Amino acid sequence: MKILEKYDLTNKVSIVTGAAAGLGKAMAEALAQAGSHIVIADIDIEKAQATAKQLSDQEGIDTLAIQTDVTEETQVQQMVDQVLDRFGSIDVLINNAGIVLNEKAEDTSFADWQKVININLNGVFIVSQIVGRQMIAQQRGSIINISSMSGLVVNTPQCQASYNASKAGVIMLTKSLAMEWARHNIRVNTIAPGYMKTELTKKFFDQGGMTDTWMEMTPMGRPGNPEELGGIALYLASEASSFATGSVFTIDGGYTAL
Ligand SMILES: NC(=O)c1ccc[n+]([C@@H]2O[C@H](COP(=O)([O-])OP(=O)(O)OC[C@H]3O[C@@H](n4cnc5c(N)ncnc54)[C@H](O)[C@@H]3O)[C@@H](O)[C@H]2O)c1
Repeated sequence: MKILEKYDLTNKVSIVTGAAAGLGKAMAEALAQAGSHIVIADIDIEKAQATAKQLSDQEGIDTLAIQTDVTEETQVQQMVDQVLDRFGSIDVLINNAGIVLNEKAEDTSFADWQKVININLNGVFIVSQIVGRQMIAQQRGSIINISSMSGLVVNTPQCQASYNASKAGVIMLTKSLAMEWARHNIRVNTIAPGYMKTELTKKFFDQGGMTDTWMEMTPMGRPGNPEELGGIALYLASEASSFATGSVFTIDGGYTAL
């Protein structure tokens, strides 16, 4: 098979959590451009439906928007059942849904700590486990977990211990699942993005100040555009990455190279 053919995802089925907007939407778009049908599993159903319509109109693939809270096992199981009813199998899962809270450790309520860990880490486990059971039955699949450079280094000046801990957890969960499921022909990798311009970070870029520090610490001197994760997402989703598993791919404008 020629190298560009390995990137072809025609008629594959990809679930992307939190893909109504931001990085998830951009990665879903990249997979759709390679021919994959797309399931958007997001808590915000109105935005998810609008994005699903945009992708099917634009790329001519099938899409499904399903309201899903990744922290609720029952909802995740129902989402997966609906995907299987419609498409029959699942080739790719991108665990992308996530939130950040910027609070000093000494001021963080336990409820806030739990909220971040619950969505960013427990959510990745819940969706991976339920989709993973289907991938084990199929004996194939690719799971891509969206961690962050904050899972590798502590960002400054903002305080976000819960976020950093959750994202470090995603990296170790990725390696653990990769080890357990390699024998089932399931690959599990993680992307660790640097500062990207999305709704999650827009408020900070709008305010300025703190983001000047971020950009000074980023060798490329600019935030990433969501589209700049499309290449790595497609690589990991496709046969092009057939020997990659348990790996962390930093896409951060050089931040962690410093
Ligand atoms: N933006 C960045 O700079 C950056 C950097 C590194 C990592 N990340 C990570 O990338 C991922 C996406 O970030 P983004 O910037 O696109 O965020 P975003 O806020 O723009 O989008 C997040 C999406 O997740 C959905 N969501 C939130 N909670 C959910 C839940 N419980 N169940 C299902 N869906 C839920 C939201 O509705 C939204 O559509 C996150 O995991 C984030 O931590 C972002």
